[in-house]
Amino acid sequence: MSRRERYLVGLDVGTTHVCSVVGEGLDDGSLDIVGLGVAESRGIKRGVVVNLEAAVASIKKAIEEAELMAGIEIDSVHLSLSGPHIKGFNSRGVVAVAGKNREIARDDVRRAIDAAKAVALPTGREILHVLPQDFVVDEQDGIGAPVGMTGARLEVNVHVVTGATSSTQNIIACVNRTGVSVVDTVVEQLAAAEAVLTSDEKELGVALIDIGGGTADLAIFERGSLWHTAVVAVGGDHFTSDIAVGLRTPIPDAEKVKRKNGCALSSMVDEDETIEVASVGGRKPRLMARRILSEILQPRAEEVFHLVWDEIRRAGYEKSLNSGIVLTGGGSILEGMPEIAEQIFDLPIRRGCPADVGGLADHVNSPTFATPVGLVLYAHRNRVPDPRRAGVGAFGRMAGRLRGIFKEFF
Ligand SMILES: Nc1ncnc2c1ncn2[C@@H]1O[C@H](COP(=O)(O)OP(=O)(O)OP(=O)(O)O)[C@@H](O)[C@H]1O
Ligand SMILES: [Mg+2]
Repeated sequence: MSRRERYLVGLDVGTTHVCSVVGEGLDDGSLDIVGLGVAESRGIKRGVVVNLEAAVASIKKAIEEAELMAGIEIDSVHLSLSGPHIKGFNSRGVVAVAGKNREIARDDVRRAIDAAKAVALPTGREILHVLPQDFVVDEQDGIGAPVGMTGARLEVNVHVVTGATSSTQNIIACVNRTGVSVVDTVVEQLAAAEAVLTSDEKELGVALIDIGGGTADLAIFERGSLWHTAVVAVGGDHFTSDIAVGLRTPIPDAEKVKRKNGCALSSMVDEDETIEVASVGGRKPRLMARRILSEILQPRAEEVFHLVWDEIRRAGYEKSLNSGIVLTGGGSILEGMPEIAEQIFDLPIRRGCPADVGGLADHVNSPTFATPVGLVLYAHRNRVPDPRRAGVGAFGRMAGRLRGIFKEFF
C-alpha cells in the first residue's frame, strides 16, 4: 500500500461541529488515528446546508486542522450524511439461479441485490446504502453467504437507506469547494455503529441512538445486520434552548451550564446542591438549586427517548434488543442520560465511545467522535476504491459501495 493509500479521512459535518479525523491503516490490519480537526459548525442545520459560504469555511477549518496534525495533505474524504431526510426501509429481491448445475455464483447475488433495490423512489430521492441482511435459497432461510450453494431460487433481504438528492449534493458541493473530493458517503448512524458497537451486540440485537445537536439518529441491528433506521428531530441543542428559556440565560451560558452542571434525571441530584447561572442583559449572576436545572432537562430527555421507543415499537423490534441500547453522540454525554434511558426502556444501557483504534485514540475517546472515527473505520474495513483513481463516476460510487458489501459477505 502506498503512503497515500494508507491514509483515510472521515469528515462529519454535524449541526454543532464539523469534525475531520485522519486514520492510518497499518500492515497488520489495525488502524491508528493520526489527525483530528474540529471546527464550530456554521451554515448546517440537521444535515442540510442553510448557508453555503459559512458551511464551506467550517469544513475548510476542520480539514486544515487535521492536515496540520497528521502532517499530510487531505484530498479526499468519506463524508457522513444525516438529518430527517434520511429514511430506511426493508426490501426483498428474488432471482432464478442462472448456472447450469444451479450453483449460486456471485453474479446471482449481484442480480438478487439489484432486484431488491429496484424500487420506485419518489423524485428527488436517491439510494445511499443497500445492506444485505440474509439470503434464502429455495426454502432455506437465514443464509449468510450463499455463493457455492445449490438451489433454483435465490432471495435476498436488504435494508435500503435513501436520502434527498439535493441535501446530499449540497453538502458534497461544500466539501468540493474546499478542494477536497468525496470518495463515499455513509449515513451517520451506520458510521457511528462501526465505531461503538461490538459484533456480539450486533449479532444479539441492539439499538444505537446517536444524540447529536439537532437530531437523534436510530439504528437497529440484529443477526449482524442493519434492520431499521430512523431519525427523530430532537437533539442536544433542544436541551440547551430549554435551559436558556427556563433560566432566562443567554444560549452560550445555557450550553456551559448544561455541560458543567446538567443532569437528565432529577432524582440523581442532591436537593441542597446550588449552581451559579449567568443572567441576560448584564445583570448579576444568580445562585440557584441544581435540582431546578435538572427538572428543566428531564422532560426533554424523556421526550427524546419516548419518541425513539415509539419508533422501535412501531417497527416491531422491542423484543429483539437482547444487548440493550447504546447511546452515543455529544448529547449522550449529559449526566443521567443512561440512567433515565434505563427507566424508560427497561433495558441495559451504555454510552458508546469509539473503540478499536490506536494512535491518538485518547483524543477521540468521546461519544462526540463516534461518527468521524466510524467513517474512517468503515472506509478501512470496506476499503472502497477511490472512484476518481479508478476513473468512474456516480455509478462507480454505487458499485464501490456494493463491492464493500460483497467484501463483508465473501
Ligand atoms: N459534556 C457535554 N455535556 C452535555 N452535552 C454535551 C456535552 N458535550 C457535547 N454536548 C452536546 O452534544 C450536542 C452535540 O453533539 P454532536 O457533536 O454529536 O452533534 P453533531 O454531530 O454536530 O450534530 P448532528 O449529529 O445532530 O448533526 C450538543 O447539543 C452539545 O450541547
Ligand atoms: Mg453527529
